[in-house]
Formats: sequence, C-alpha cells, structure tokens
Amino acid sequence: MTKPLQNRPAIVTGAAQGLGRAIAERLLHEGASVVIADIKGPPLEKAAAELEAIGDVRWLTCDVSDESQVRELCVFSEKAFGPCKVFVANAAILIAESIVDFDVARWRKVIDINLTGQMICMKHALPSMQRAGGGSFIQINSKSGKKGSYKNSAYASSKFGGIGLVQSAALEMAEQGVRINAVCPGNLLDSPLWKNDLFKQYARNQGVSEDEIRRKYIEQVPMRRPCTYEDVCNVVVFLASDQSSYMTGQAINVTGGQEMR
Ligand SMILES: NC(=O)c1ccc[n+]([C@@H]2O[C@H](COP(=O)([O-])OP(=O)(O)OC[C@H]3O[C@@H](n4cnc5c(N)ncnc54)[C@H](O)[C@@H]3O)[C@@H](O)[C@H]2O)c1
Repeated sequence: MTKPLQNRPAIVTGAAQGLGRAIAERLLHEGASVVIADIKGPPLEKAAAELEAIGDVRWLTCDVSDESQVRELCVFSEKAFGPCKVFVANAAILIAESIVDFDVARWRKVIDINLTGQMICMKHALPSMQRAGGGSFIQINSKSGKKGSYKNSAYASSKFGGIGLVQSAALEMAEQGVRINAVCPGNLLDSPLWKNDLFKQYARNQGVSEDEIRRKYIEQVPMRRPCTYEDVCNVVVFLASDQSSYMTGQAINVTGGQEMR
C-alpha cells in the first residue's frame, strides 16, 4: 500500500533530539524522504545513523538564524531529493527570565532564532515549494504563541510573532498551492527540554520544587496529561499530507483543551 507521504521530499530543523527528531522519524515511517538539520552536528549525525533503518534520510548541520546556512540546506535537500514539498520549522530555544532582569542580548537571541530563523527558512524553502508546484510549510509554534507565559516574555513574543508570520506568508502563497500553518503544542513534559532545563529554570524562577512544577503544569490541562510527541506528529502528518489541502494560515492547538483560541 502506498504511504501518505511516499517519496515526498521533507526538511526538519532542530532534529538532533526532542520533538524534531520524533517528527523526522514519523515522516520517514509515512514514506517521506527527509533531510534533518540542527546546529549541533555530532548528535545530528547520530540521529541520522539511527533513522537510516527506517527510510531515506540525509543530514546537514545548519543554524536557522544564519541565512547562508539555510540557503545551503535548501540547495542540499533539492539536490538529494528534488524540490522541497514539506518543511517542518521546529528549531527553537527557550531562555526564561523576568523582564526586569532580562539581558537584552539574550532576549534578542531568542527572537533571532525562533522568529527571524522562521522567516529565513520560509524565504529559502517557499521558492523550492513553488518549483515543486505546491507544498506545506509547518511551523512548530506553542501554546505560548496564543497566551502570555510567566517570566517567559522572549519565547512567548517569538511565538506570537511566528503566528503573524504564518498568516502573512500564507496570504502571499495561497494562490500558488503552497500552504503555511503552525502547530501549537502544549507542554511536552517528558521531553529533554523540560527534563534537562525547564523544570530547573521554572523551579528557580517560581521558588518551588521541580515536582511541584510538574504537578502544576499537569493540573492546568483539562485532559490532565502532558502533550506527547505522538499527539504533535499526528497533526504534522495531517498538515504535510493532501488531507489538509484546504487549510492555510492556521495555528492549530494540540493542548488537551488548555488553549482554545
Ligand atoms: N518541549 C515542549 O514542551 C514544547 C512545547 C511547545 C512547543 N515546543 C516547540 O517544539 C520545538 C522543539 O522543542 P523541543 O522540546 O524538542 O526542544 P529541544 O531543545 O529538545 O530541541 C530543539 C533542537 O533545536 C536545535 N537548535 C537550537 N537552536 C538552533 C539553531 N539556531 N539552528 C538549528 N537548530 C537549533 C537544538 O540543538 C535542539 O536539537 C520548538 O519549536 C519548541 O518551541 C516545545
């Protein structure tokens, strides 16, 4: 049986670990040919070696905030698999700090990677999709793109901006069959981002234990469980496939009911 994304050329950024790696794995299972990219070379190469057992995967080190590297990524992918049909812009960073203490250079870094990086990826991937006669650009956003986030202004601002970028680009590309949508996951509490970093940052900023932070974030979800990679991958595959062919400019919540706008 033909798979839903059979031979569809795809790029996933921030794919060395976490959600990006899970999305790349799922796209390969669905038949796509996938280039994975990340700023961290060694873990990316390791991920590619593991994913080779599933399907046709290539890898390239790339900083999404560097235009020449993103241009090279799109050329590399097109040479390997043909014009890009699916681009999952997943790479992002999170630095949490109170506004009054936030170092401006660190604030700018978050915007540079999370928002300007998204624009740079669009700038170089969308022409490839136009050449392919259509495509699906999927921005990994967050529920923090819909609602303010406590002591997390840089990240929330970058994610709110991302939705404006998606809507604007969707208007520019709509007539050419290139669709642009965002996915807004809830808290992936079992991801490396939370386990290695966020539980510690939030516990420190909010003056409570890491266990209390976990309980607090689960209690905020009407479905009373964290978001999982599978929850997000299901929506990414839908957006990458022709099943969503009448959808563009959307920002879809995957939050167990926590965000409804
Ligand atoms: N973890 C969560 O709870 C959660 C919730 C909602 C949304 N998200 C979003 O999901 C996406 C992935 O998050 P994650 O939890 O897997 O994070 P993560 O930190 O585990 O992975 C992010 C990856 O992006 C890479 N990266 C960082 N800066 C980069 C750059 N400049 N260029 C290229 N790659 C770069 C990192 O090396 C890393 O491999 C992000 O867009 C994040 O905002 C995460």
